[in-house]
Amino acid sequence: MSTHTHHQGLIARYKDRLPVSDTTRIISLNEGNTPLIELQNIPRLIGKDVKIYVKFEGLNPTGSFKDRGMTMAVTKAVEQGSQAIICASTGNTSASAAAYAARAGIKAFVLIPDGKIALGKLAQTLMYNATIIQINGNFDQGMELVKEVALHAPVTIVNSINPYRIDGQKTAAFEIIDDLGFAPDYHCLPVGNAGNITAYWKGYKEYSTSTDTHAAIVTKRPIMCGYQAAGAAPFVAGHPIDNPETIATAIRIGNPQSWDFAWAAQKESGGWFDKFTDEQILAAQKMLSKHEGIFCEPASAASLAGLLHDLSTGKIPEGSSIVCTLTGNGIKDPDVAIMQCADAKPVTIDASLDAVKRAILDSL
Ligand code: F0G
Repeated sequence: MSTHTHHQGLIARYKDRLPVSDTTRIISLNEGNTPLIELQNIPRLIGKDVKIYVKFEGLNPTGSFKDRGMTMAVTKAVEQGSQAIICASTGNTSASAAAYAARAGIKAFVLIPDGKIALGKLAQTLMYNATIIQINGNFDQGMELVKEVALHAPVTIVNSINPYRIDGQKTAAFEIIDDLGFAPDYHCLPVGNAGNITAYWKGYKEYSTSTDTHAAIVTKRPIMCGYQAAGAAPFVAGHPIDNPETIATAIRIGNPQSWDFAWAAQKESGGWFDKFTDEQILAAQKMLSKHEGIFCEPASAASLAGLLHDLSTGKIPEGSSIVCTLTGNGIKDPDVAIMQCADAKPVTIDASLDAVKRAILDSL
């Protein structure tokens, strides 16, 4: 371990477990090293004796976990001489791809479903100067088009079908074990295209397996719980679905690309998939903001919605330690946040001491 404390990104931190060499030019925005925050109020509110930690991935440079995969994918694309990257996206991958392309000095093309990505994600992607192609179709259709076009044009796909994405994202599991000193009993996360559950499971397996180069760090692996939005739950249906729909636009996906890997994570860990309504997801998002001061985006809150449900039924027992991944920052989706808080509209008053005093007394 270096004595320097300046975190320089997850490739620098975990390079002995990632496919890079000493001469690789690392494209990084110092991603990773996100806080693992223990919830202090929600366990008491729900009356459960459990330790719940949230891995707040919304604090990555572009506000989502995608940066972990993107630093690796763009580093390798550049190493292999690529001048352009491409992805389909529900918003976060496009923002991340655009930022890392800007950092590398290469071009980014992003296909997004017209009108179905959160405002903040669109703003980011525009500012990072990607070429945005909006399609009259959903993420799954965009993904098929990206796979086709990459056969005909000199562009590297940076969706999670790119294996370097998974390698970058697996470091989140490393960080959790490095922070806690143990693997949690359960790991809950939202599932869309299913790259992230694949990546966490890979990371947990690597840290619990001895190889020629590494001794196992822990013996235990968590049980993986993958939660989907009710209108976009192909893993619960057991087959891809045609017209996914949910307010959690990040996970509005019907035909996940990492289908087999995600089922392997579920089976090997003894975990499960489940689905929750938009109302349950939004209630969990609000609960986390209101009672813990942690603002994640709607899709991310599926992890807590699922956990709350599984704690209430006892499927996840008291005494457990649990990590929920909060995949993205709530600031990315201001429209849904403001819509949710319509009953708490700010009051507007005269700019006078009396009026301010009255406003305070009125709401005490
Ligand atoms: N949470 C957020 C905030 C996401 O943006 C995504 C996926 C997921 C969860 C699901 O992760 O796909 O690895 O199962 N967003 C992708 C995108 C699809 O284009 O930004 P997954």
